Amino acid sequence: MKFKVLTLFPEMVLSGLHTSITGKAIENDRITLDAVNIRDYTQDKHGKVDDYTYGGGAGMLMQAQPVYDAWKEVTAAALNREKGCEVQRRSPRTIYVTPQGRLFTQEYARELAKEEELIFLCGHYEGVDQRVLDEIVTDYVSIGDYVLTGGELPVMVMIDAISRLVPGVLHNEESAETESFHRHLLEYPQYSRPEIWRGKEVPKLLLSGDHKKIAAWRLEESVRITKERRPDLYAAYERQENVIKQLSGNKRLHIHMMEALRRGRGEVLYAKDGAIAVYDYSCKTGLFTVRAEDDMQGAEDMISAIPEAVLTEMDLAVTTAEVLNHQLSRLRAEQPWRVSAECRQACYTQKNPLAVRHKDIRLLQEEELTCLPMHYACESEACLADRLRAKALFGAFADGKIVGIAGWYADGGIGLLYVEEPYRRRGIGSSLEAFCINRQLEMGFVPYGRISADDASVLQMQEKLGLYLSERHLWCLERKSWIN
Ligand code: ADE
Repeated sequence: MKFKVLTLFPEMVLSGLHTSITGKAIENDRITLDAVNIRDYTQDKHGKVDDYTYGGGAGMLMQAQPVYDAWKEVTAAALNREKGCEVQRRSPRTIYVTPQGRLFTQEYARELAKEEELIFLCGHYEGVDQRVLDEIVTDYVSIGDYVLTGGELPVMVMIDAISRLVPGVLHNEESAETESFHRHLLEYPQYSRPEIWRGKEVPKLLLSGDHKKIAAWRLEESVRITKERRPDLYAAYERQENVIKQLSGNKRLHIHMMEALRRGRGEVLYAKDGAIAVYDYSCKTGLFTVRAEDDMQGAEDMISAIPEAVLTEMDLAVTTAEVLNHQLSRLRAEQPWRVSAECRQACYTQKNPLAVRHKDIRLLQEEELTCLPMHYACESEACLADRLRAKALFGAFADGKIVGIAGWYADGGIGLLYVEEPYRRRGIGSSLEAFCINRQLEMGFVPYGRISADDASVLQMQEKLGLYLSERHLWCLERKSWIN
C-alpha cells in the first residue's frame, strides 16, 4: 500500500508515522509513505499558499494552484509507472480530511485498505479553495465531530488504522481478517501483572486457565460496557443477535451467514419473514436465504429492499435457492449472474479438536508461493498469493516438499484442498482439513465449508470427519462481467 500526503507540514506526518508499528511497516516495505510539501509548488515568489476568502469571513484559505500542482505531480508519477505495464488507470483515490466529511470508521478503513495507493490532502487555515477540491477529491472524510487546526493529525490517524489492515503489518499469526470478532461490541477490560495492585485484584476467573469460562466472561463484560457507554452500538448488536437466532433455526444451512455476522464481517441488509440478506463487505459477497425454495415473493421483496449501490458493488452471491438467481438476473439485467457452483454446506458443530494423522502440516509463508504443488488445478496463483498474505493457507509436507494444501477463502469457508497425486489415499487431505478446522476452533469460530454437490468423495470425507451436511443446496453466483 502506498500513501502519499499533500501537506504544509511534511515533517509532522513523517516523524509521527516513522515511529512504532507503522515505522516498522515502512522499513519492511509493507507500506510506503511520501509526504509532499504543497509550498514547494506555489508560483508565488514569496512562497505564499493562502489568501483571503471571497465574500469575506475570518481567516485565510489555501489556494487552488499549489494544491493542484502538487497533486498533479504525485498522480503523474503513479500514472507513468502504470504506463509501462500498458494498464489504463484512473487517478488514485484522493481523500480530503475535513470535519464536513463522511465519518471514518473501521469499516471505512477496511474499504480503503483494499486500494493500492491513496493520496491524502491536509487542509490548513480555514480550508481549501472549493474549485480544486471539486477537481481532485474522491472522498471527504472526518475523523469525528470536532475541529482540529489542520489535517495532519486526521491523516495520521487514518494511515495508522488502514496500515494495520494491510497484510504483514501486524506480526501476529492471525491476520486482521480474523479480528473484531464482535463487531458491535466494545473491548472487555484486560489486566496484566501484578495480580494485586493498590489492593485491587485481577478477577479470579482470569487466573483459572478455563478458556471457555474466560471467553464467556469477556463477552459478558463487552456486552455490559457497550450497553453502558454506547447504547447505539448495543442496539445494533441486539438486532444482529436476533438475526443470528433466526438463522440458527437451520444452522447446517445458514452457518456461513451466522459466521459472517459473528466474525464481524457481515452486515444485515434485510430480515423479514425468513428472508434474510447479509452482506459480507470484506469480500463483496451477498448471502441470501428464503424460508422455502419457492418463496418468490420473499426473494423479490428482499432484493428490492437492498440499496442499488450495494447490489452494484456485489461481485458474488451465495443463495439458498435458485429462485434468487432469477431475482438477481431480472433486477440487474445488464449484468446478469450465472451459477458457478451448486454446493452443500458442511458444518462442524462440535467444540473438540480433531485428530490430525499427518503430523507435518504448518502455516505457509508468502515466500512459499513458488513451492506450491505445480499442478494445483482449482485456484489461480493470484488467489493463492492472497490466501498466503492473509495467513490462511496451510501445507502438508512429505519427502522434504509441500505435497498438499488447504486453507480458507476470503469469506472464511474452509476449502482450497489439493493433494498431489502420488500422495493421495494416505489421509493427507483429511489431515489438512482437520488441521484447518482445529485452527478455526482455536480462533473461536464454527468451522464450515461449501462442498460441490456432486463431489461424492469430498462429501464423504466431511461426514467421516464429523461435519454435518446441509440438506438444501447453496448456489454460488458470479457476476458475468466480473468473470471476464
Ligand atoms: N480537519 C480539522 N478537523 C478535522 C476532523 N475532525 N476530521 C478530519 N479533518 C479535520
